[in-house]
Amino acid sequence: MSRLIVVSNRVASITEGKSSAGGLVVGVLDALREMGGIWLGWNGEIETEPVQLPITHSDKNIDFVTVALTQREYDQYYRGFSNGVLWPTFHYRIDLSRYIRRDYTGYRAVNRRFAQLLTSSVKSDDIIWVHDYHLIPFGQACRGLGIKNKIGFFLHIPFPSPSVLRTIPSHRELVESMCAYDLVGFQTQGDVQAFIDYATRYLDATLNGNTLKMGERSIKVGAYPIGIQPDQIKELSKESRYSKPLDALKEGLQHRKLIVSVDRLDYSKGLVERFDAFECLLEGSPQHRGKVTLVQIAPPSRQDVQGYRQIRRQLESTAGRINGKWTELSWTPIRYMNRSYERTLLMSFFRVSQVGLVTPLRDGMNLVAKEYVASQPANDPGVLVLSEFAGAAAEMQQGALMVNPYDVQGMADGLDRALNMPLEERKQRYEHMMGVLKKNNLSVWRDRFLNDLSP
Ligand code: ADP
Ligand code: F6P
Repeated sequence: MSRLIVVSNRVASITEGKSSAGGLVVGVLDALREMGGIWLGWNGEIETEPVQLPITHSDKNIDFVTVALTQREYDQYYRGFSNGVLWPTFHYRIDLSRYIRRDYTGYRAVNRRFAQLLTSSVKSDDIIWVHDYHLIPFGQACRGLGIKNKIGFFLHIPFPSPSVLRTIPSHRELVESMCAYDLVGFQTQGDVQAFIDYATRYLDATLNGNTLKMGERSIKVGAYPIGIQPDQIKELSKESRYSKPLDALKEGLQHRKLIVSVDRLDYSKGLVERFDAFECLLEGSPQHRGKVTLVQIAPPSRQDVQGYRQIRRQLESTAGRINGKWTELSWTPIRYMNRSYERTLLMSFFRVSQVGLVTPLRDGMNLVAKEYVASQPANDPGVLVLSEFAGAAAEMQQGALMVNPYDVQGMADGLDRALNMPLEERKQRYEHMMGVLKKNNLSVWRDRFLNDLSP
C-alpha cells in the first residue's frame, strides 16, 4: 500500500493543546492518525540560523518531519505573504492586504526549502497531500526537483473571485503554480467555480468534466467539504459534564440562557458585528435583558500581524462599551475570553448552550459550526445561527438559522427566533444537520480526496 505524506505549515504534534488550534490541524490529525503516514511542516520555532537537519519523531501512527524557520523566513513567508496578503485577500479583505515583493520571494523560497526536505523521505509510490495557502507553489517546487509522485492540494480557506485575486500582483504566477498538482480541492462548489473562472479567463485553460487542461498539463478540480467525526464529538461533549470549569460556567449563568461562540481572534470571523447584534437584541427585545448571556471564547491568533492587533483592540472596546451600558449587579451580558480550552470542555460548553452563534464575514468551512451541532443532546438540542458566508452554509442551510453577518438587525432577529424556537422545530433542524454531518464525515472527506487523487 502507498504511504501518505501530508505537508502543511502547522503540524499537529507541535500545536496540540496550544491556542493556535485551527480547522486544518484538527481535521488532518484525525485523518492521518487513522491511516498512518508522514507529516511534514514547520515546527513552530524561529531559529537565528537556517537549520538544515529536520527534527523527526514518531507518535501514534505518524512520523513527524519538521523544521524551524529563520526570522527572515518567518517574516516573509508566514507573517508577510501568507498572512499579510493571501489570508486577507482570499477572505475578501483587500483593504488589509500589504503586498511586498520580497515577501513573495521569501514565500516561494520557503516552499522550495520544504520541497527539498521532502526529497530525503519520499519513495516512488508515496502519495503527497499538500494543505492550505502557505504552500500553493509547493507542488511546482517538487516538480522542479524531479518528484513525479501524485501530488494533491487542498485549500482550507475560500478561493476568491478573479477580480479580487487579481489585486495580488503575482496572481498569475501563483495560480499557474497550482497546475503542477494532479488534483486541486476546495471547500465548496463556489470556490471551485472561482478557480475555474480564473483559469479559463486568464490562463487559457479549457474545462472538460472536472478536468482543467492547461497546455501540457491536466488537473482535476473538485469540492471536498471538510467534515468532523460527529460520534466522537458527541462523546467528547459528554466527557466533561462533571468538570469544575463547566460547573463554574453554569453557576455564573444562574439558569440564564447561553449563547456560545468560539473562534480564533480573526477579523474574518465577524466578531464586532456579532457583539453589535447581541446589543441590538438587548435594545430591541427588553425581555432578554438579564436573561441571556453571550460567552465568546476567542484565543489570540497571529498577533504580530497588524490587522489582528487592530481587531483585538476594536473588540475590547466594543465588549467594554456594551457591558458598561447593560451590565447589572447580578448579570454581565458578554463574557469575552481571550483563551483556549480543551476540546472536551469546549464541546461541553456547546452542549449546555441554547444557541451556537457562528457568524464569520467569510470562512472556508468553519468546523466550529459542525462541532456545535454534533455536541447537542438529541432530546433538547440548541440552535445553530450561521452566517451565509461560511463554507458550512452549503451543507447546513436547511437546519441552521441563516443570517447575513453584515446585517446587525437581521442577526438580532435570528437570535431572538433561536432563543424562542419550539422544541419540535429544534429537533427537526438538528436531525437534518446530523444526517448531513454523518454522511459527509471526516473519513469521507479524506477518502474522497485520496481516491480522486490516486484512483
Ligand atoms: P479556523 O480554521 O479558521 O480557525 P475552524 O472553525 O474551521 O476555524 O476551526 C477551528 C478549530 O479549532 C475547531 O476544531 C475548534 O474546535 C478549534 N478551536 C477554536 N477555538 C478554540 C479554543 N479557544 N480552544 C480550543 N480549540 C479551539
Ligand atoms: O484553517 C485555517 C488556518 O489558517 C490553518 O491553516 C492554520 O493552521 C490555522 O488556521 C491557525 O492559524 P495559524 O497556523 O496561523 O496559527
